[in-house]
Amino acid sequence: MPDTPRPPSSPLLLALRQGTHACHKTLETRLPFFSDAFDLHAYRRLVAAYHGFHAPLEARLSDYQDDDRHKAPTLRRDLQALGLTVAQIDALPLCRDLPIITDHAHALGVMYVLEGSTLGGQVLKRAMAQRLGIDADSGGGFLDVYGSATASRWRSFLQRLEQAPTSPAAVADSVACAVATFECFAQWLDTCQVLLPSDERSHISV
Ligand code: HEM
Repeated sequence: MPDTPRPPSSPLLLALRQGTHACHKTLETRLPFFSDAFDLHAYRRLVAAYHGFHAPLEARLSDYQDDDRHKAPTLRRDLQALGLTVAQIDALPLCRDLPIITDHAHALGVMYVLEGSTLGGQVLKRAMAQRLGIDADSGGGFLDVYGSATASRWRSFLQRLEQAPTSPAAVADSVACAVATFECFAQWLDTCQVLLPSDERSHISV
């Protein structure tokens, strides 16, 4: 992602980056996007699993962020483009084991993970177009959910982080919630059987 501008880093952002670095690495290597066996069928199952996590988690975030940051509606559109009916989408399983959000510090930790994923999405968007021929209209909308506004949406989220309280307790709460978000997501994806086994990690080529 060389073209994403890097604004000055706030202490909270630095703590979130440091605290979740290992989680990101682990999840990234177990996601199947770059696996040789990854095909359209596996992609559809993965999008359904993403939906099962984002929809209930974004509902919990609704007191803390505007609806236009919600990615579940785009995931629903992607699933329809991939051939699921509305009834089938409504019947998909939803994750129940989610991070608990009771204050602003918790919400910022969760949002950091979900908003940060739009940056990696830029890499995945190109890879899925190349490997599976998927674009925004054929099931890949969630990989580029903000389109050309990706960098500016990320910058505006970072401004929010910069304005947040930086007491050690608040920072620790945000980091713990960000880590919990990665962990709950990985656990959910594992339950949905869409991750690579830990001994068969994909080699990412971007
Ligand atoms: C194979 C899958 C993934 C790849 C290849 C990937 C790739 C990347 C890349 C290249 C960046 C750096 C962007 C930049 O510095 O401009 C990034 C950042 C990030 N990604 Fe991922 N990512 C993946 C999956 C995920 C997932 C599933 C999540 C969360 C649900 C996630 C959350 C984040 C976060 C929080 C950041 C940090 C943003 C920051 O602090 O600068 N990523 N990812």
